[in-house]
Amino acid sequence: MAGSDLAELAKRRGFFFGSNGAYGGTAGFYTFGPQGAALKRNVEDAWRDRFTLKEGNREIEAPTVMPEAVFEASGHLEGFDDMLVACGECGASHRADHLVEDATDVEDAEALPGEEVEALIADHDIACPACGAPLSGEPVEDFNLMFATDIGPGDSQPGYLRPETAQGIFVEFPRLKEYARGSLPFGITQIGPAYRNEISPRGGLLRLREFTQAELEQFIDPETDEPPLDRVADVAVRLYPATAQAADDGDYLDTTIGEAVDEGVIGSPWVGYYLGVAQEWYERVGVDLDRFRFRQHLAGERAHYAADCWDAESEVDGDWIEIAGFAYRGDYDLSKHDEYGDDAFTVFKRYDEPKTVERATVDPDMSVLGPEFGGDAGAVAAALETLAARDPDAFADETVTVEVDGEPREVDADVADFSVEEVTENGEHITPHVVEPSFGVGRTVQTLLAHAYETDEVDGEERTFLSLRPEIAPTDAAVFPLVTNDERLTDLADRVAADLRAAGLAVSYDDSGSIGRRYRRQDEVGTPFCVTIDRDGVEGDGPETVTVRERDTAAQVRVPVDELADELAALRSGDEFAALRDRYGAVATDVETN
Ligand code: ATP
Ligand code: GLY
Repeated sequence: MAGSDLAELAKRRGFFFGSNGAYGGTAGFYTFGPQGAALKRNVEDAWRDRFTLKEGNREIEAPTVMPEAVFEASGHLEGFDDMLVACGECGASHRADHLVEDATDVEDAEALPGEEVEALIADHDIACPACGAPLSGEPVEDFNLMFATDIGPGDSQPGYLRPETAQGIFVEFPRLKEYARGSLPFGITQIGPAYRNEISPRGGLLRLREFTQAELEQFIDPETDEPPLDRVADVAVRLYPATAQAADDGDYLDTTIGEAVDEGVIGSPWVGYYLGVAQEWYERVGVDLDRFRFRQHLAGERAHYAADCWDAESEVDGDWIEIAGFAYRGDYDLSKHDEYGDDAFTVFKRYDEPKTVERATVDPDMSVLGPEFGGDAGAVAAALETLAARDPDAFADETVTVEVDGEPREVDADVADFSVEEVTENGEHITPHVVEPSFGVGRTVQTLLAHAYETDEVDGEERTFLSLRPEIAPTDAAVFPLVTNDERLTDLADRVAADLRAAGLAVSYDDSGSIGRRYRRQDEVGTPFCVTIDRDGVEGDGPETVTVRERDTAAQVRVPVDELADELAALRSGDEFAALRDRYGAVATDVETN
């Protein structure tokens, strides 16, 4: 399947298409049509089920606009850049690292300094993809990907659209830890939009300027907290470690999560745990595991906050694309917000047994410091306190010197009233570490469509169908009256559709065109089951029945109307159609294209 076939199907059948077409289109923005919005919502619900509910985590929803101070602290203002090269001839902007990767055998140009990328552009005579002019000699510059905005009118505050949902979780940590009763480990999830002013958006949903992330921030005490690794220890994974990528003959490592963690290939057991959970989830929603791998970041490729990172990658149209990142963010984010923000981004870790420790303290005589240092007296007292904790020996002499605003201030040791006390400590304040699985919902949707796109032949005619998993498919079932000129059939079809909708299923009703055409329409949008109301089902004394046809095999079974909603709900939850066939018996079908 060529990517263009899928893009054409996606647009024609209402999955997704470029936004604002009536105004010339806006690169990097896509609208999900009715099929796509339902598919995306099902992916999000399946993610929520696995990463929030089944893990016992909690979900929040934070604003998408955040003040500048947040991004000063997080490092995004300083370091959230891509490499830009602009064409001197036509002015088109390009990702310099991507041009180099496309034209050379360099695999990770993002990790190189700008000058080296400039040199590679010159050495390989790389030309502007838009107009063909040489790019040699054009500067490669850092371009910050955040969208800037103003918060409020007048003397407004600078703000940015969040480039990752994660920051909305980190900045609320002081409150979130209270909801977790101050005890680690705990996980917070969020599903929502993120914004990046990508230099060259491309590939349908793959590189957008507005996209949806599903992120989990797992807060842990790195010294004591262990994940339940045994739950995924046997999951067989295909790893592409950094060492293998660097070696000329480097190959995949086919192993299990348990072994990879034991042998240190995956450094953090928490990262290993979530790689295992993620692979099981990808399989559940329909990613083809033969077109899937976990690739470790090379050192120069890692984001500014990450100590280690593995990407989940899927193969789409012959390219490997990152669909999720699993970063060990350490205490980077919480330490930064602790430093820049007003609240404490730590948790109190209670010791098993209280500890008696010696603590150096001062009790400065303010009636002396006040007249001597005036408005600086408070700062001098605070500096004495800090010095006592850091360097008790500094109080051994008759006078002690501290620095306030760069000026040395001398204080009599008597006035400082230094002493060492024995105190009982019940615990200490620690900064949790963060392990972050970060999923792109759009890239997952595009992968699922690419991996589900199939063609075969039914009754001598070629058909295109999407073999989407029932849990994920936009429509659970389609209902057709076989003919429209028999009220017994149309009445029952109306009733069946209403009953299935009342049972919570997404139902499409179609009574136009031949039955074969109606099947094809549903096949193309991946509807897993078509329910047809025919005369055999309403005639005779027995209970009313309908046929249920499975998309991938086109096999049919006849099911009593009273059982239908329960049977379809079970199929949606993962029951096999073969079991339904065993229960009710297969129906010999007429040619579908009739
Ligand atoms: P890339 O290297 O492809 O630009 P990234 O390393 O910047 O991706 P992350 O910062 O790790 O991506 O973002 C986490 C996830 O968010 C990615 O795995 C991806 O699924 C998704 N994502 C990131 N940028 C985009 C984008 N521009 N459009 C769509 N999804 C994106
Ligand atoms: N939160 C990870 C990322 O978006 O980069």
